[in-house]
Amino acid sequence: MFNAIAAHGGVSSQDPRAFRLVQLPDAIPGPHDLLVRVEALAVNPVDTKVRAGLPGPEAPTQPGAVPRLLGWDAAGEVEACGAAVRGFGPGDAVWFAGDINRQGCYGERVLVEAAICGHRPPKLSAAEAAALPLTGITAWEALFERLGLDPEGADAGRSLLILGGAGGVGSIAIQLARRAGLVVIATASRNESKAWCEQLGADHVLNHQHPLAPQLAPLGYEQLDAIANFSDTDAYWPVMAELIRPQGAIVAIVGNRSPLDLNLLKAKSASFHWEFMFTRPQFQTADRGEQGAILARLAQLVEAGELFSTLTTELTPINPTNLARAHGLLESGRTIGKIVLTGWG
Ligand SMILES: NC(=O)c1ccc[n+]([C@@H]2O[C@H](COP(=O)([O-])OP(=O)(O)OC[C@H]3O[C@@H](n4cnc5c(N)ncnc54)[C@H](OP(=O)(O)O)[C@@H]3O)[C@@H](O)[C@H]2O)c1
Repeated sequence: MFNAIAAHGGVSSQDPRAFRLVQLPDAIPGPHDLLVRVEALAVNPVDTKVRAGLPGPEAPTQPGAVPRLLGWDAAGEVEACGAAVRGFGPGDAVWFAGDINRQGCYGERVLVEAAICGHRPPKLSAAEAAALPLTGITAWEALFERLGLDPEGADAGRSLLILGGAGGVGSIAIQLARRAGLVVIATASRNESKAWCEQLGADHVLNHQHPLAPQLAPLGYEQLDAIANFSDTDAYWPVMAELIRPQGAIVAIVGNRSPLDLNLLKAKSASFHWEFMFTRPQFQTADRGEQGAILARLAQLVEAGELFSTLTTELTPINPTNLARAHGLLESGRTIGKIVLTGWG
């Protein structure tokens, strides 16, 4: 048996019934799986969104039913490997985001397919490492796969607007884009979040609480080569259509709530791309091992001192009280960098 934190929907994250400690039967790795002992986990907005759809604390449960575990961002140690696993062994220190269709990492142990895991950078503590996988894969796929920018500098000098620079995803994207030689124009609305974006390497920081075009014009960037929207797709749709240059590219990671007018992009032949970090594992795409490769590349960059952990808040231990705290902070929409929980106490 292992300890885990089950979540309920239907109540505020601050309701004492939202999270509870449970004991679950040991998980057995499938042929391609790693069984990982979770040392640290990061929380993400997806956790709060999935929790919202879970049954409430009063909902009847079937005897023997296993509760849904949230959490798709972790660092830990391999305890056992499936028979077909190559490249990992017991005792390896790993990091991964995982698959939203499987149980998450709010437990002492979790199963994850080896193809979407990486060896974590030795330079980082478990907490520092847990801050990076989900946001790192999202930012990498958004910039270098969906927008097609070159990670190694072939697109140096091109302009990139990052909407939501200080959040989890923005904090990695700024670093990767800066390293790729792009002109990075991030947005933040507070002194602390603006300073954080500058510290990560943003060339310019705009305030997203004010119209963006009048802030861009004095910088000499009336139109952008690329836009990465890590915030509200609906709210920014008209302004993105206005600011993207002819034949430019836009990527978004947050689903729209209302229909979007694609015609706004037609005259400019601008392209629009979705990025969803869980696409590869969810649909078991043949290339899902690319996520393992991205994690390996991120680990190299960390070891080379070219990428820094975005950990800003560490809560210990991993328990219902600290998970409630972490969800409350995420729900504020004002998080800077990443919140990580460590140790099982
Ligand atoms: N598709 C995917 O694969 C994927 C992956 C990861 C995340 N997501 C989604 O992407 C969103 C961002 O995730 P995250 O982890 O980066 O979130 P986060 O860390 O919670 O983002 C917090 C940041 O959002 C900024 N923000 C708040 N209002 C904003 C606005 N109107 N415009 C621009 N920025 C604003 C805040 O900056 P200020 O305090 O400076 O205002 C704050 O720093 C979430 O909805 C999440 O579910 C999707």
